[in-house]
Order: sequence, then C-alpha cells, then structure tokens
Amino acid sequence: MTILITGGAGFIGSNFVLDWLAQSEETVINLDKLTYAGNLQNLTSLSENPEHIFVEGDFGDVALVNQLLRAHQPRAVLNFAAESHVDRSIHGPGEFIHTNIVGTFNFLECVRAYWSGLAADAKTAFRFLHVSTDEVYGSLSKTDPAFTENNKYEPNSPYSASKAASDHLVRAYHHTYGLPVITTNCSNNYGPFHFPEKLIPLMIVNAQAGKPLPVYGDGQQIRDWLYVKDHCSAIRRVLEAGAVGEVYNVGGWNEKPNLDIVHTVCALLDELKPRADGKPYNEQITYVTDRPGHDRRYAIDARKIESQLGWKPAETFETGIRKTVQWYLDNPEWVANVQSGSYKDWVNRQYGDQAPAAAGVAA
Ligand code: NAD
Ligand code: TYD
Repeated sequence: MTILITGGAGFIGSNFVLDWLAQSEETVINLDKLTYAGNLQNLTSLSENPEHIFVEGDFGDVALVNQLLRAHQPRAVLNFAAESHVDRSIHGPGEFIHTNIVGTFNFLECVRAYWSGLAADAKTAFRFLHVSTDEVYGSLSKTDPAFTENNKYEPNSPYSASKAASDHLVRAYHHTYGLPVITTNCSNNYGPFHFPEKLIPLMIVNAQAGKPLPVYGDGQQIRDWLYVKDHCSAIRRVLEAGAVGEVYNVGGWNEKPNLDIVHTVCALLDELKPRADGKPYNEQITYVTDRPGHDRRYAIDARKIESQLGWKPAETFETGIRKTVQWYLDNPEWVANVQSGSYKDWVNRQYGDQAPAAAGVAA
C-alpha cells in the first residue's frame, strides 16, 4: 500500500512523513516543489529508508502528477502543499493564488481522473485528505465561542482567502463528482522544523542571536497552539476513521496571547541557555507596526474530532514548548542552513525600516 503526500518537505509535511514512517511500513510518495519553505534536511534521517520516495516537483504539474498516480497507485493522497505565511501573502498575494487555488485545482483534477479509473473496491476505499487552517473562519472577538465546523468562512488575508478557496474546491469535488474527500482545519502549529519566519521559531532564533524580538501591535492577539506531532496524529486518525465529505477542526484548547508566548520562550531560554550577561531575554522584546488586517483571535472547538474519532493531543502547551525550544537549541546547524538566500531577502523586506537586524540573520 502507498500514500502520496504533497508538501512533505515543509514544516508539518516533514513531521508527518517522519511520524508516518516511524509507525508504518506503508510507502510514502512525497511530492514537493522545494520552495524556500521546503527543506530536504528535515528528512535526512530517511535517506536510507526505501519506503520514502521523494519527488521534486509541483503538485499543479498535471503531467507529473498523472504519471506519479499511474506508477504508484496510492490508496490515499494527503494535500499539505501550500504557500503558508500570512505576511508573505500581504506583500505578494499572487503566488498564494497560483499555488493554493490553481495548484489545488490542478491536483484535484488529476486525482479525480485517477480515482474514476479505479476498481470498485479501491474507489470506495480511496481518500483525498486536504490539510487546511482555522484562519478560513476569520477573526473572533474575546467573547465569541471557538470555531466549530459550522462557522461561516470569513477569511481576512490573501493566505486565508486562498486556503478558503481551496477548501471550497475540495468540497465541490465531493458534492459534484463523489471524490471521497475529508478536510481538516487546524489551529497554529509549533515544533521542530518550523521555518523561522513564523512567531515561535523566530523568537527562539532571534533571542539567541541577541536580536530584537518583534511583537506586532500590542501583542494581545490570540492564537490557539498545537504541537505539530499532535496535528500529525490527528491527520492519521482522520485518514483512518474520518467520514467522507466531513470536515474536522483540530486544536488543543491552548489559546494564548502572542506576548505570553514570547515571554514563555524567553523564560525557557533564560533557564536552558542563559544570556552571557545574565540579563533576561525579554529585554529584547520590541513592539513593531501591526500586520495590516491582523486577525485578533483564533480558537478551535475540537469536540467533533475528540468525540467522533477519539483523538486527543499528547502534549500540553508547557511540554510542547519546552521540547520545541530544546529542539532549536540542539539543532543550530539546521537553523544556520535555513538562514540564507530568499529568507534573508524576506527579513530585510518585512522588518527592514523598523528593526534592521530583527530576524536573527547576519547582515
Ligand atoms: P510550509 O510553508 O512549511 O510548507 C509548505 C510545503 O509545500 C513546502 O515544503 C513547499 O516546498 C511545498 N510547496 C509549496 N508549493 C508547492 C507546489 N506548488 N507543489 C509542491 N509542493 C509545494 O507549510 P506548513 O506550515 O508545513 O503547512 C502545511 C499545510 O498545513 C498548509 O496547507 C497550511 O495551510 C496548513 N496549516 C498550517 C498550519 C501552521 O500553523 N503552520 C496550521 C494549520 C494548517
Ligand atoms: P505567525 O506565526 O505568522 O502565524 P499566523 O499569522 O498564521 O497566525 O504569527 C502568529 C502570531 O504572531 C500572529 O498574531 C502574528 C504574530 N507575530 C508577531 O507578533 N511578530 C512576528 O514577527 C511574527 C512573525 C508574528
């Protein structure tokens, strides 16, 4: 048996592939374009594993995807591939439309054609699992209830709008063509291999480099954090037992204001790798101009996946963030290797006028 995943060299995808192959002998075809966010170093521990077949390419490349589906006959496809960084989507939405909408559309067309030609049993058993985000539901006020699967879609950034469009396409392929799809909408992930343009890894990396810790606006925006390996276990469970055509929200009931997150990271670093001058890392916190259209609060109501599929996260925020900070301290080479090329250009563009050295990258 074989599964095909897209975007398996990115943050969540690579954690998923590692997790999958640690628990299963089922072959993984990993199709990834290796954009700035794709990193084969995440998968070096699999270099001798014949069950991991990496293919560099675009999930929207119809000829390539058709050929892979024909050759490997997967029983399921899992779609992780996307442009995923909100701030980048504000500076340059075009790539998000191209990848997240057009790419998903092309991929769906290929999978539909492949699925249509399967024998009856294989057709029934087949799954298209689409990995999406809670950001499609928009922003909550402090007192609103958390997002359920029935919340209206109200995406506010080009990133979340492009993900919302891809979710709608996936849904339509089920309703129109019967393609056996399932969608997951997960809250913010954190953990190993997280690219240091996102909040938590950026803070860990900048703190150690003696650079400013850039907090947008008042730092009171709330996100709902889930350790990445818990997201992986949720996806496995949904693939195994989720009902076709359904949507599952994934989250760990861990709402935190951004400033609390930054203080927690600083306190862990004070403990695990104190500053040479003995001062606390939170002295490096710097307030910078807020993100345009910044969503105030996300929160996931995870009762459906918990009650219907029996899924629960293994980590609390306290255990997960400690493991994460320790992972970055243990892997300085991984960090150094990603801090080059287009990443450096990005940092200059995003933080340039306000905090010239804001992202822990040597000029
Ligand atoms: P990421 O940016 O770290 O990785 C994306 C991966 O997709 C990279 O390896 C990249 O090379 C690859 N990719 C991009 N365009 C491609 C294309 N055209 N063809 C093939 N591969 C391509 O993203 P992530 O944080 O790992 O997110 C994975 C998925 O999970 C995304 O769909 C994202 O929307 C969703 N998600 C992320 C979070 C989060 O907190 N990071 C939360 C919920 C959902
Ligand atoms: P991010 O990790 O980009 O995830 P998302 O925007 O998808 O939720 O950001 C998480 C939160 O942290 C978000 O409210 C924006 C904020 N943030 C900062 O305050 N400073 C930063 O430098 C970054 C990258 C994010």
